[in-house]
Amino acid sequence: MILFVNACVREKSRTKRLAQALLAKLEGEVVSVNLEDICFDVTDEAYLKKRDRLIAEGAFDDDMFALARQFAQADTIVIAAPYWDLSFPAKLKQYIEAINVLGVTFEYTPEGFPKGLCKANKLYYVMTAGGNYVPEEFGFGYIKALAQNFYGISDVELIKAIGLDIAGADAEAILEDCLYREG
Ligand SMILES: Cc1cc2nc3c(=O)[nH]c(=O)nc-3n(C[C@H](O)[C@H](O)[C@H](O)COP(=O)(O)O)c2cc1C
Repeated sequence: MILFVNACVREKSRTKRLAQALLAKLEGEVVSVNLEDICFDVTDEAYLKKRDRLIAEGAFDDDMFALARQFAQADTIVIAAPYWDLSFPAKLKQYIEAINVLGVTFEYTPEGFPKGLCKANKLYYVMTAGGNYVPEEFGFGYIKALAQNFYGISDVELIKAIGLDIAGADAEAILEDCLYREG
């Protein structure tokens, strides 16, 4: 199962377009999670207490962990997120808070290091940015660190098209070039 985590917002999202071109090339059933359709719980103290209790009870079949179970079971993961404020939309962070569940997507070794429990062997991160100042540490770099160190997914690939909103830029040509490089 290919899990498509869609953090795109705009109807004519260019990030989504790149992701869809990628998905068309991958083999397997695609299950989409559209983050804009999800009303995430507020991660307040009551939420954390409930989560801790369920984890302590081993009640991993609770609805609270449905997104985490789905993520852990995917064979391939495709995350599509526009570059926002040097990072990605807040909904993607909310999704990460929902799926980072001890005992479902990761566990800790006795030495205190996270160890992945996810089945996927590949994660693609698709993004587009308006400008050309696109440091990776708060967006792709963060997702890559999570994938490799928490989820146990070592193969992480970035697909990106940047500079799309610069005055005079031929956004269409930049996107086409990115699609061509994708193969
Ligand atoms: C809220 C918001 C924040 C943005 N922040 C940045 C930014 O920090 N750097 C940048 O280069 N572009 C930024 N952009 C421009 C988007 O990255 C760019 O338009 C992108 O291609 C949008 O993707 P989409 O077509 O999939 O919606 C921002 C756009 C929005 C709406």
